[in-house]
Amino acid sequence: MTRIELTVDGAKVSDDVEPRLLLVQYLRERLGKTGTVIGCDTASCGACTVHLDGHSVKSCNVLAVQADGAEVTTVEGLATDGALHPVQEAFHEYHALQCGFCTPGMIMQAADLLAENPAPTEEQIRQGLEGNLCRCTGYHNIVRAVQHAAGTPGTTAAPAADGGAA
Ligand code: FES
Ligand code: FES
Repeated sequence: MTRIELTVDGAKVSDDVEPRLLLVQYLRERLGKTGTVIGCDTASCGACTVHLDGHSVKSCNVLAVQADGAEVTTVEGLATDGALHPVQEAFHEYHALQCGFCTPGMIMQAADLLAENPAPTEEQIRQGLEGNLCRCTGYHNIVRAVQHAAGTPGTTAAPAADGGAA
């Protein structure tokens, strides 16, 4: 077992974990962060996307021990002071989901995309989200939502509770 200490959604946590434990398993099974979902377990679908030190990663492709000392934000920690992140608001407003299974990962990826590029073109949005699969929506409303959220205050920096950028 290996001791890890990290910050998850603004709360410091420490645990003994097996070196082979995936970050997504740690988040869901140890911390109860079931808002982060598993769609494939093979780094293909993007449903498990979270932010690691402010940048999106597929948490089924990261070991929990690799997050030692890092700051992790899940979709459950994206809202601030009870206010939804602009990307969350836009997904709601533009009906950018149907079954919702891809939505946590899609939102986390889109939030990182806008933090990196506040004014993306439609093509850049589609490219930025190409690692996140949605079997329901046809992507159209997802792209519209991200276009709407682009440039909105609060989208220019990925959330980091104590500024822990990589
Ligand atoms: S569950 Fe991680 S990419 Fe699909
Ligand atoms: S809304 Fe169902 S998979 Fe995207």
